[in-house]
Amino acid sequence: MKNISLISLLFAAILMVACSSETPDSSSSTPAAKSLYERIGGREKVKAIVEDIWNNHAKNPIVKDRFAGSDPSYVKKRVFEIFAAATGATDVEYKGMDMKSAHKGMNINEMEFNAVVDDVLAACEMHKVAQQERNEVLAILWSVRKDIVNPHIITDTLVN
Ligand code: HEM
Repeated sequence: MKNISLISLLFAAILMVACSSETPDSSSSTPAAKSLYERIGGREKVKAIVEDIWNNHAKNPIVKDRFAGSDPSYVKKRVFEIFAAATGATDVEYKGMDMKSAHKGMNINEMEFNAVVDDVLAACEMHKVAQQERNEVLAILWSVRKDIVNPHIITDTLVN
C-alpha cells in the first residue's frame, strides 16, 4: 500500500513539475531561472535540512540500524554535497562514491528506500520547503532508486 501511494505521489510530482514549467518569453531578457538549490534556500538551509535527515534516520525504526555504525559527520558531509550538487549548487562538489558503488552489497529493499525518501521529504517539510520544490526533490530521489534498491529482495510490505 505504501509503495502504491509513493508511486502515485511520484506521478503527481512529475506532473506538477512538468505543468509548472513556464513558457519561455523570447521578447524580453528575463533573468536566468533560479536553481532548485537556490529556491530551497541555499547552503545554510540545505545544511539544516541534512541535519534533520540524519535525525530522522536515527529515529526511523526501518533504517536506523543501517546507520548505527556510521560516522555522522562523514555521512552528513556527503549527503550535503550530493543534495547541493543534485539540486544545482554551483559552488559545491560531490566528493563521494556514485550511488551504485556506495550501496553495493547492502541488499537495500523497497521499504527501506521509501523510508529514506520519507525522512528526506519530512526534513524538507520541517524546514518549510514548498510543495513544488519538495516534488522536485522527490523526482531526483526516485531517479537514483534503481542504483540503490536490490529488486530481488522481497519484503513483507510487498508480500502483504
Ligand atoms: C534515497 C536515496 C539515497 C541517497 C541519495 C543516498 C546517498 C548516500 C551517500 C551520498 C552516501 C555516502 C557515499 C560515500 O561514502 O561516498 C551514502 C552512504 C550510505 N547509504 Fe545511502 N543514499 C540513499 C538511500 C539509502 C538507503 C535507502 C539506505 C538504507 C536504508 C542507505 C544506506 C546507506 C549507508 C549504510 C551508507 C554508508 C554510510 C557510511 O559510510 O557509514 N542509503 N548514501
